[in-house]
Amino acid sequence: MCGIIACRTHAPAVDYLLVALRRLEYRGYDSVGVAVKTTGGQVVRIRTVERIDALDRAIRGGTGYELDRVGIGHTRWATHGPATEANAHPHTDCTGRISLVHNGIIENAHELRQALSISGHHFATGVDSEVLCHLIEDCLTISGDLLCAVQAALASIEGSWAIAVLEERTGRVVVAANGSPLLVARTEHGDFAASDIAAIAEWTDDFTVLGDGDVIELSVSSAGQSAGKNGRKPVVRQCIWRNGEDGLNGHADFMAKEIDEQPTAVSRVLDELGPNIANGRLWHSLGLAPFNRLQVIGCGTSLNAGQVICNLLRRVGGVPASFSVASESAGEIVEPGALCLAISQSGETSDVLNAIVSRRAVDPAMLALTNNPHSTLARRADAVVNCLAGPEIGVAATKTFVCQVVAGVAVMVSALAANGCLGRSAANRLVDDLRRIPAQLSSAGTVAKCLVPPIAEELADAPGFIFIARGTGIPYAAEGALKLKELSYRWAEHYPAGELKHGPLALISSGTPVVVVDNADSKLANNIAEVQARGGRIISVGSLGSTVPVTGELSAPWGPIETIVPLQILARNLALFLGFDVDKPRNLAKSVTVE
Ligand code: M6R
Repeated sequence: MCGIIACRTHAPAVDYLLVALRRLEYRGYDSVGVAVKTTGGQVVRIRTVERIDALDRAIRGGTGYELDRVGIGHTRWATHGPATEANAHPHTDCTGRISLVHNGIIENAHELRQALSISGHHFATGVDSEVLCHLIEDCLTISGDLLCAVQAALASIEGSWAIAVLEERTGRVVVAANGSPLLVARTEHGDFAASDIAAIAEWTDDFTVLGDGDVIELSVSSAGQSAGKNGRKPVVRQCIWRNGEDGLNGHADFMAKEIDEQPTAVSRVLDELGPNIANGRLWHSLGLAPFNRLQVIGCGTSLNAGQVICNLLRRVGGVPASFSVASESAGEIVEPGALCLAISQSGETSDVLNAIVSRRAVDPAMLALTNNPHSTLARRADAVVNCLAGPEIGVAATKTFVCQVVAGVAVMVSALAANGCLGRSAANRLVDDLRRIPAQLSSAGTVAKCLVPPIAEELADAPGFIFIARGTGIPYAAEGALKLKELSYRWAEHYPAGELKHGPLALISSGTPVVVVDNADSKLANNIAEVQARGGRIISVGSLGSTVPVTGELSAPWGPIETIVPLQILARNLALFLGFDVDKPRNLAKSVTVE
């Protein structure tokens, strides 16, 4: 949550800051701001609760100064204090000598604020990050050196941070990280620090990830050198996505583009993993011991993908598999021989990272399934599977979901084959079925684009939606309901269809929309009849005869994956009809780095 950028460049810094902030906006868009050094030696701070275009206009419209080549920027997802201009980053100290941007949470902010106030500091906001400014202010008075001051100030902080601090007098920039992602890069355009390589991918492929406790000065002579507590040399990594993969390419929005990219993305996963699934090599390449049960942890969409992977493992291999919401999984009992599968597209979700820490006490084998092989999750796991979805900009997960499902299924099939629980020909048949998924997703998209928009329009006034399914269809109903609520701001809940009569049926009245994920389970017909008897409006997605039919292996052990495409299109069309931004739903962010 929150994106930060800092740069010391050969051309005006704002030209880089604005590009980077646009690419970081997916991390939060409650407000955005920059602090930039002027050629006259001051630092100008410009912030807005509007989007980046407004910031751009405010910067270009500024008069009386010329902006120089060093600056910091921030795009905010509000934690402490509402989304106001005053609460927008960068923040400053009492003297205005330093400006600071922060991503993370200062857990002892309240105590520090009290102590600093008693010693005479004046706070301009209720934001936790501001305490850092005042702490650094005090330390700077003592040492006179920004790097030492930041190191000393951070010693009093409990919590997580990625920060960039700009000193007005010297123009020095110091960055630091602990529990929040931050990387630095030296490029021919200058030196950068950013929350995510996507922010600076236009200028470099190579970057260095800061470790916990690192404090670094961003300067020509020292970028990339750790001055933090870890005392190790950070590793230079390479960005795997090339420039140009993150444009709209003629689509109306990123969600539309990413829905359309699903067949290609799944093909990429299968091209990469396919040859090594049935022969067990994929599993062996991970270097993990055989397991006798699976525990999946994740949040939101990633957890829904995890549910699909659990279904597959139980059905095909008879292996016990359970899944739990990462934020509630701390006290869970880890049984001997368990494999923990942590799923996170960003690899930076705090709830997932904390769940891993709690499991490390009993030390199960830890496999990460992520779209970011450079992420904190990837670095902390024993083995990593890249879900290869490519950059996903829309906050609502689409292509990362199908890629997580297919990559996770591939690994589990390979594990079963490697451990003798699945014969070679059965494994080959499953791989053949997996290879048909891209075409099935593509055809589901073509059909849904014709049939779904009028349905979405017709349902625009419905205050709430119920999604039902049975067996392997349930994770897709969960994902469809999640998409609908996050994009259209309408209530949407999913239930196993058999549960309707145990309570939720009371919600059905004339016209209540009930979306059925139809995987051809024969018992669904009765549940549909129960809804219709009470006037509910059935929208079924799946087998032949459905409102939106899809072609595919609906009874595959990974369930009716093709049905997710019409459900994504339903959520998008409803949101567009209601006038909402489908790429940046309210209150959400793509990378959730707070608990
Ligand atoms: O990065 P992660 O996969 O760990 O994120 C977990 C959830 O926040 C995420 O899946 C969220 O539910 C989706 N963006 C919703 O579309």
